[in-house]
Amino acid sequence: MILSPSLLSADFAHLGRDVEMLNASQCDWYHLDIMDGVFVPNISFGFPVMEYIAKYATKPLDVHFMTVHPEEYVERTAKLGAAIMNVHVEACPHLHRIIQQIHAAGMKAGVTLNPSTSISTVEDIACDVELIMLMSVNPGFGGQKFIEHTIDKVKRLRRLLDECGSKAIIEIDGGVNRETGARLLAAGADALVAGSAVFRADDPSEEIRILKSLDRA
Ligand code: DX5
Ligand code: ZN
Repeated sequence: MILSPSLLSADFAHLGRDVEMLNASQCDWYHLDIMDGVFVPNISFGFPVMEYIAKYATKPLDVHFMTVHPEEYVERTAKLGAAIMNVHVEACPHLHRIIQQIHAAGMKAGVTLNPSTSISTVEDIACDVELIMLMSVNPGFGGQKFIEHTIDKVKRLRRLLDECGSKAIIEIDGGVNRETGARLLAAGADALVAGSAVFRADDPSEEIRILKSLDRA
């Protein structure tokens, strides 16, 4: 399994320390949540902060755009050195076009679905993306309760991807912890985002080790 800790729950006054902790930990990616106060009712951080994270991070950046018009930021995200650019289906009327733009810029394309958005919305681009991310909370805030319906949605998405021969990774974002994480992996998820489960733990790098061992459970 791939573990992508979300820096949204990091201590922004000690960001360098938290990035170093992730560098030395067993995590796979860094999940960066960009919010614009329009697509979601919260504002997080933007490029100036991400540029510093990118400078010190030693693993791939998994950037999650919770903004309107993500197509305006494709070039800048690529310049940052991001490995994956995740955009919301709900924010992209021309989803196929932005996927092409992301690929042309040299990144892997991820599409993200809100809890109320049907997996049928990605049926026609399932073979064009490297990753499909399901939100298991309503986007905008860390530390929310996992929406149980996601377990069934993961199973249905797994079937859809297998049926159409897509190799896309299934990533889950929101309310992931040891308990929900184990069930998500059993349902067919490949990658898990974890914000508060990691950064609110007494020992974040030990929590990462435990979450990483879930797939062997
Ligand atoms: C929520 C963000 C998440 C958030 C997850 O809108 O997209 O990545 O950081 O936080 P937890 O793991 O605390 O639910
Ligand atoms: Zn996220």
